[in-house]
Amino acid sequence: MTASFTIAIDGPAAAGKGTISKAVAAELGLGHLDTGLLYRAVGVRVLEGIPAIEAARTLTPEDLARPDLRGREAAQAASKVAVIAEVRAALVDFQRAFARRAGGAVLDGRDIGTVICPYAEVKLFVTASAEVRAQRRFLELSAKGQSISLEEVLADVKERDERDMNRAEAPLKPAEDAVVIDTSALSIEAAIALALQEVAAHR
Ligand code: DC
Repeated sequence: MTASFTIAIDGPAAAGKGTISKAVAAELGLGHLDTGLLYRAVGVRVLEGIPAIEAARTLTPEDLARPDLRGREAAQAASKVAVIAEVRAALVDFQRAFARRAGGAVLDGRDIGTVICPYAEVKLFVTASAEVRAQRRFLELSAKGQSISLEEVLADVKERDERDMNRAEAPLKPAEDAVVIDTSALSIEAAIALALQEVAAHR
């Protein structure tokens, strides 16, 4: 593998990109950055009253380690701040530096293959039907003790898809040269195997 090797994994919420990214990074010994966490951290700071652009420009490693980043409120807040061009711009350098770290990196998000790392050696777009994604997120949130109905989760997923796909800045869409993996009918193991196959074809 070359000194820097970037794998870009994009897709909508709960399609499985986080699980696939972690597994690929662990299997190949690469760094992994979940870029959604950056937007979630900005989102929760905004919920605390900090203006969005200031929050993005002053993010600290501690902000990224907060335990409340995985919840429903953080997800919606993240999707809202993510439409702001200056917020996105403030997060670009950190992501690009991570992508080019020695030894290689996997970044997952919405715009990695299209905007952050258009030069990535491997680009995957991981997707699944809204219903399947809502069911997965529902099980995850229920396991964490969040009381929410499947219908509410599906509404959240659709609302975020709509905002993430239709924003002017870096909308969620597959890069032209991305390989699409639809995980609707795939087990986690099968999805990871497909992703690893694709990476192997480019190394
Ligand atoms: O991947 P996630 O669900 O943690 O992302 C939360 C929100 O952050 C998502 O709805 C949109 C935004 N986001 C983005 O705009 N660009 C990224 N690269 C990652 C996340």
